Amino acid sequence: MKLTRGFALLSLVLAAYASSPLASSLVRHESRSELPTGWQQVHRASADLFLPLRVGLKQPNLLELESLLLDVSHPESPNYGQHWEPERVASHFRPSKQAVDTVRQWLQDEGIATSRLRYDPNGWVVANVTVKEAESLLKTEYNIYEHAETSTKHVACGKGYYLPQHVSEHVDFVTPTIHFDVKVKRENEFEKRTVPGAGKHIGQPGAGAVVPKPGGTIKYVYNIIDELQNCDKTITPNCLRALYKFLYEPLVPQKNDYAIVEYTPQAYLADDMDLFFRNFSKSQVGQRPNLSFGFNGESNLDLQYAMALLGKRQNITLYQVGDLPQGASFNNLLNGLDASYCTFEGGNDPLQDGIYPDPLDGGFKGPEDCGKVKKPANVISTSYGYNEADLTPAYTARQCAEYGKLGLMGVTVLYSSGDFGVAGNSNLCLNPDGSQTLDGKLFNPSFPGGCPFITSIGATQVLPGKKVTDPESACMSVIFSGGGFSNYFAMPDYQKSAVTNYLTKFPPPYSANIWNSTGKSRAFPDISANGANYIIGINGDFGLVFGTSASSPVMGAILTAINDARIAIGKKPIGFINPTIYSSSFKDAFNDITIGSNPGCGTNGFNATEGWDPVTGLGTPNFPKLLAKWLLLP
Ligand SMILES: *[C@@H]1O[C@H](CO)[C@@H](O)[C@H](O)[C@H]1NC(C)=O
Ligand SMILES: *[C@@H]1O[C@H](CO)[C@@H](O)[C@H](O)[C@H]1NC(C)=O
Ligand SMILES: *[C@@H]1O[C@H](CO)[C@@H](O)[C@H](O)[C@H]1NC(C)=O
Ligand SMILES: *[C@@H]1O[C@H](CO)[C@@H](O)[C@H](O)[C@H]1NC(C)=O
Ligand SMILES: *[C@@H]1O[C@H](CO)[C@@H](O)[C@H](O)[C@H]1NC(C)=O
Ligand SMILES: *[C@@H]1O[C@H](CO)[C@@H](O)[C@H](O)[C@H]1NC(C)=O
Repeated sequence: MKLTRGFALLSLVLAAYASSPLASSLVRHESRSELPTGWQQVHRASADLFLPLRVGLKQPNLLELESLLLDVSHPESPNYGQHWEPERVASHFRPSKQAVDTVRQWLQDEGIATSRLRYDPNGWVVANVTVKEAESLLKTEYNIYEHAETSTKHVACGKGYYLPQHVSEHVDFVTPTIHFDVKVKRENEFEKRTVPGAGKHIGQPGAGAVVPKPGGTIKYVYNIIDELQNCDKTITPNCLRALYKFLYEPLVPQKNDYAIVEYTPQAYLADDMDLFFRNFSKSQVGQRPNLSFGFNGESNLDLQYAMALLGKRQNITLYQVGDLPQGASFNNLLNGLDASYCTFEGGNDPLQDGIYPDPLDGGFKGPEDCGKVKKPANVISTSYGYNEADLTPAYTARQCAEYGKLGLMGVTVLYSSGDFGVAGNSNLCLNPDGSQTLDGKLFNPSFPGGCPFITSIGATQVLPGKKVTDPESACMSVIFSGGGFSNYFAMPDYQKSAVTNYLTKFPPPYSANIWNSTGKSRAFPDISANGANYIIGINGDFGLVFGTSASSPVMGAILTAINDARIAIGKKPIGFINPTIYSSSFKDAFNDITIGSNPGCGTNGFNATEGWDPVTGLGTPNFPKLLAKWLLLP
């Protein structure tokens, strides 16, 4: 089998090490059995190509991240709300001197002069090496890979790489190696299977949030009575207010902030925003989000609802990540939020992440916005995601820890759970060998949906013919609410009781080899909000949008209102909400969703049931109840 070559190399190296005083056996540090979907090996990388080889050092104290988070986020903790300053977070998780010295010493012993090494005190040793040197350091083989659809080129070692045992102990992972950090996808590509080409309506590649209502123009109405009678066909801000009893006028907008993350080329058009506001929130015509960092692209869609729900007093910040030519990955966002993440290129992979300034035509000419956000917004909503299987466990763990650190600082991080039920982005399902195909049979969880340190938001809908006052169903129009059980992340304490209750009372009738049935893995989503038939202004007209990408910004708006009310009476923002929302005191603060399911991978998926379920989580928000409960917390 293919491993033979690796083993042959391995024995050579062991011989070399045996004569060294630092003798240490080699261990396979990371490996993968299959290339990620769409990538093909085209040829060997040329031996003299220079790579920035980045060694991500293990951060100390990460094992206690969950308990530290609980300490400031659990409603019964005496330290509830006592969030950490960013500097304290950075120093608490800074890699040890021993880790730095070990990696540097190894590189020097292997003949990499110190002048070619750089060290970022927050966790990365970067070596400027040739492919030949990298192959010798990591006992692997570098190739050029090409993506079938996008023709993107990527340098990687397809199968795995080795490190000396004593080095491996101090390392999370090395890049570029086996990671194919594809550009992030917005959580809805559903138009590809429903209305081919509908994405073109936004006029930009990759954009695809809009599904024109079959039969032509959307009939919608100008008075609130009619509006509320048609929430099963067209969701408007008033429908959402009615569904979640959400009426709120911010009291201290200057002390509170809500940010929505968009990855270029997703962008808003100012005219569309005003078209929407003219019909649904007149006083906000002309209002724009506060662009916080990144490429000053046009504007975007999620903002219309978030802005309308909070009214014109509350500014909303747009974290526009990436520019048109390059796009971006989650690393670019984390760079903007955390200087420690990107110093000396941090987690960036120049072959995949957007690198700024961008020399390409139309590219962003400013520097990378490294730690530009001095204080991240209190709530950050993102409607983009990967399939967990796109990335390696070590890679997802490192990004997930970053979200945990944001939680420690008091930031609520929301991610849409995905739009393909138990299947992954683009409706791909897993095969036993780890590959993802349309005819795969294994459920394919999303990332960061499965990260225990974010709040994952699923989608619901008003069923056709039902009233806005009737119970909602899991969303089964155009999209299915993403949900399930992670294959990478263990179940956090805060959800043990809720998820165990589900697994005990409603054991899913699927064989254990198509889903993670261990009862020990992180289950998602956590909560949900309507995700069907949103009317938005789009290219001068109105269109309907479906998806958890609508649910997440709406939930963010509601949580932002709760932060406002707490800040107004001198309390801290709600921060990482999961320990709170799963706690017994919040039991009836959500509308439990018990109708519908989330099909995928040739199955009916999971059912929405009484209590938490892997379709709609704990349910949809009941704003007055949530507000009252959160105001009571210290
Ligand atoms: C890496 O080293 C080569 C050869 O000295 C040099 O040309 C190149 O600019 C270096 N790259 C970086 C990023 O320092
Ligand atoms: C909102 O943004 C506008 C324009 O940038 C600014 O003038 C105003 O002071 C901001 N309001 C608050 C409450 O921050
Ligand atoms: C609402 O949208 C319709 C359709 O585009 C438009 O004709 C109308 O002028 C808008 N209403 C207002 C009050 O602007
Ligand atoms: C919005 O932008 C203005 C002008 O750049 C700035 O003064 C204000 O603080 C920003 N508001 C928020 C909430 O970020
Ligand atoms: C299921 O989840 C657990 C906990 O995260 C993990 O240890 C296990 O490897 C997972 N099983 C599969 C088949 O991925
Ligand atoms: C969902 O409910 C149906 C009807 O009660 C049942 O037949 C099916 O087994 C349930 N599926 C799961 C995954 O629990």
